[in-house]
Amino acid sequence: MSKKWIKNGIVVTSTDTYQADLLIEEGKIISIGKMPDISDAEVVIDASGLYVFPGAVDEHTHMSMPFNGTESLPWETETVAAAVGGTTTIVDFALQAKGSSLADTIRKWQTRAAENTAIDYNLHVAITDLTNEIMEEIPTAVKSGVSTFKLFMAYKGELMVDDSTMFRMLQKAKEVGALVMVHAENGDVISLLQQQLLAEGKTEPYYHAVSRPIDIETEATHRAIKLAKAAGSPIFIVHVSGGEPAQEIRRARASGQPVFAETCPQYLFLDETYLALPGFEGAKYVCSPPLRERSQQEQLWNAITDGTLQTIGTDHCSFDFKNQKNLGRNDFSKIPNGGNGIEHWIPLLFTYGVKAGKITLNQFIELISANPAKFMGLYPRKGTIAIGSDADLVLFDPKVEQTITAASHLQGSDYNFYEGRQVQGAARHVLLRGEVIVKNGIYVGSLSQGQFIHAKPFGAAYRINPLARGITNEGKPVETGAAL
Ligand code: URP
Ligand code: ZN
Ligand code: ZN
Repeated sequence: MSKKWIKNGIVVTSTDTYQADLLIEEGKIISIGKMPDISDAEVVIDASGLYVFPGAVDEHTHMSMPFNGTESLPWETETVAAAVGGTTTIVDFALQAKGSSLADTIRKWQTRAAENTAIDYNLHVAITDLTNEIMEEIPTAVKSGVSTFKLFMAYKGELMVDDSTMFRMLQKAKEVGALVMVHAENGDVISLLQQQLLAEGKTEPYYHAVSRPIDIETEATHRAIKLAKAAGSPIFIVHVSGGEPAQEIRRARASGQPVFAETCPQYLFLDETYLALPGFEGAKYVCSPPLRERSQQEQLWNAITDGTLQTIGTDHCSFDFKNQKNLGRNDFSKIPNGGNGIEHWIPLLFTYGVKAGKITLNQFIELISANPAKFMGLYPRKGTIAIGSDADLVLFDPKVEQTITAASHLQGSDYNFYEGRQVQGAARHVLLRGEVIVKNGIYVGSLSQGQFIHAKPFGAAYRINPLARGITNEGKPVETGAAL
């Protein structure tokens, strides 16, 4: 049986930092500790001076997703970029086309990903058409390994669902241990504001932000939380963009309600002034919720450190500037929503989070790997370094410095959200289930290596005490026999 030996690295998990060797066999970690010479190791990697992280689990991506008459950039390019950056698992949003079954939606996404993904993946189904048949199909979808569902409160006429749909989905989710993830923005009001602005001739990208003020997000966040409470179900709010919606989550958790949430790097590192860049450049930064005032960033960091927000996901939904963002040149509401970040989110958070003293190294791993895996029902197979876990490992050099630029990135887009940022740290080697897929920063894997990973129901949202700050250290399981 061929073994791999990673020696002399500094292992970092969400709870611990320590020097240890790792032994890998059949894709799993089989031993951790100081080891004598492993004479039968087929591969030996000296990780001296490197951190050994569990691969990042990005719970929020959109690969090859139809949007505003085009499609986000594909699995082929974006998962290679993810791998080189240190992400080894994504949970991608499979959009239910109206009239399609859940099985067909899942199959469609799996077919698209098959032979085209460099890294492992799971799926959330974004429900757009909750018929009685779909309600009946939900337990089967969960048995097939999909235990998270997204509901959009925005994108009226396309993806948006009404409150009764949301309520029914929340009721069903708690029966089967699924997690409902919500895009919280009031789509009715956004649609109205879009029409008003366009009628006034306000067509430029900046008006995207004007049409989606933070109060609209805060209102929807509040409504989603109250609907979840009435339904008796946990809820997970995605892409929280500022302090006011975060405050809704903080308040609900303080009352003991299981409300959990994510923010994204763009809300921590970019702000609404980017939308006002001249020459239609602002279109590059059109995403939803929109980028906010700079003052919101500090409030989001506070929400991370006080445990209001559990995870960071990229919301990588990448489009080309020249060919795709251009669709909205005369009408901001037609600009495909989304940006990129999966290649560089790890050094960005390491530099401006860990090195800047905002979060500890262990919190960093908690936010990008352990907690996403726990909430998405993938832990402890993913999200940690433990005996029996998949050997998804990032050997991270904290000393390397790089300047982010589209000129050298691997992401398919012709621009980079973080163009010109100086960052510290980079993945030197990345292993996916024990196979080296990135060697000295170069992708050496193949697109047939990524696998669909089954998610278990009754993940962390069902198991932790909402009043506890974190999960790993302080959270107490409230049920037994489930995913953790
Ligand atoms: O702008 C964004 N976030 N695009 C992707 C779709 C979504 O709302 O998550
Ligand atoms: Zn969304
Ligand atoms: Zn998204």
